[in-house]
Amino acid sequence: MTDPLILGLESSCDDSAAALTRGRDVLASVVKGQGALHAAYGGVVPEIAARAHAERLDLCVEEALAEAGVTLRAVDAIAVTAGPGLIGGVLSGVMLAKGLAAGLGKPLVGVNHLAGHALTPRLTDGLAFPYLMLLVSGGHCQFLTVRGPQDFSRLGGTIDDAPGEAFDKTARLLGLPQPGGPSVEAEALKGDERRFRFPRPLLDRPGCDLSFSGLKTALLRQRDQIVAAQGGLTRQDRADLCAGFQAAVRDVLAEKARRAISLYMDEAPASPALAVAGGVAANRALRGALEALCAETGLRFTAPPLALCTDNAAMIAYAGGELFAAGVTHDMDLAARPRWPLDRTAAPLVGSGKKGAKA
Ligand code: KG4
Ligand code: ZN
Repeated sequence: MTDPLILGLESSCDDSAAALTRGRDVLASVVKGQGALHAAYGGVVPEIAARAHAERLDLCVEEALAEAGVTLRAVDAIAVTAGPGLIGGVLSGVMLAKGLAAGLGKPLVGVNHLAGHALTPRLTDGLAFPYLMLLVSGGHCQFLTVRGPQDFSRLGGTIDDAPGEAFDKTARLLGLPQPGGPSVEAEALKGDERRFRFPRPLLDRPGCDLSFSGLKTALLRQRDQIVAAQGGLTRQDRADLCAGFQAAVRDVLAEKARRAISLYMDEAPASPALAVAGGVAANRALRGALEALCAETGLRFTAPPLALCTDNAAMIAYAGGELFAAGVTHDMDLAARPRWPLDRTAAPLVGSGKKGAKA
């Protein structure tokens, strides 16, 4: 029997996206980013994002159908991000999905955006449950044990900012273009990570919770000291600041990953694996550190290709397919949720990211 054809919709932050999947086959994945609309404001403006999603999501669906060469009638179920995220955007997606489901008489499946990220290694690499996941993006940062499409345990997470936010802020403070991650990484390649020693927050505390807001402040102070002393930053100063900052993020994430691995291994999984997802997982210094850690501790390391690491609808369609196969569907009461922790038993983390509510 062939797998059902799933249409997925994503609109929880600043990417409008639609995709069609059949099992692990991605037939089409369309992402329309909104970077240019928000550029002048230094962050995502929720009202602008919501309006843009409402205007673009149906175009994404049309393009995805054309790319896959299928009609709406052929779709077996509609999967949609129902949270967590910026509520106006999530509502745009949920309303469109409900309209399509009602109009076509097809089942509706509400998907947790974080579950979409967390299940992506199954889509890209066929990874079997359970596995350890580091979800690290502009809006999220957490370690999860993934046991099933609805079975997640959070081992730790950020108590304030997400690392992607810190990369973006660093770029802004140093006059580098957005998104900050790639520009800071490129500068760091030319810099000396030992010149400025930035703090490694929370390493002195047990467990695998993380914090990144102090690191941003330390960078700001260091920059201001240099400017006060010599009237401005040289190219080398900028590169060294980026290298020092990136090294601190890498070291903190690697050390916390080591602790998460040790907690996860207490479960004695049959084939131990660590997977990463989210935009920051594109960072080569971080990937390198995690790969080395996995080699040392005997875990398989999986990092999905970048297009499926960052926000997209293929992950939502795929996760929706897993839920649908497990018998999960929703009716017209499906709610759009600004907050929606994957692990409902874990204590809530402090703080709320600029790019959307954390969970
Ligand atoms: O997953 P994503 O596309 O969106 C959400 O935040 O949900 O992640 C975007 C974040 C941005 O903060 C961006 O600066 C960061 O990922 N990023 C990187 C790199 N590429 C993107 N951070 C560090 N190094 C990179 N190469
Ligand atoms: Zn995301």
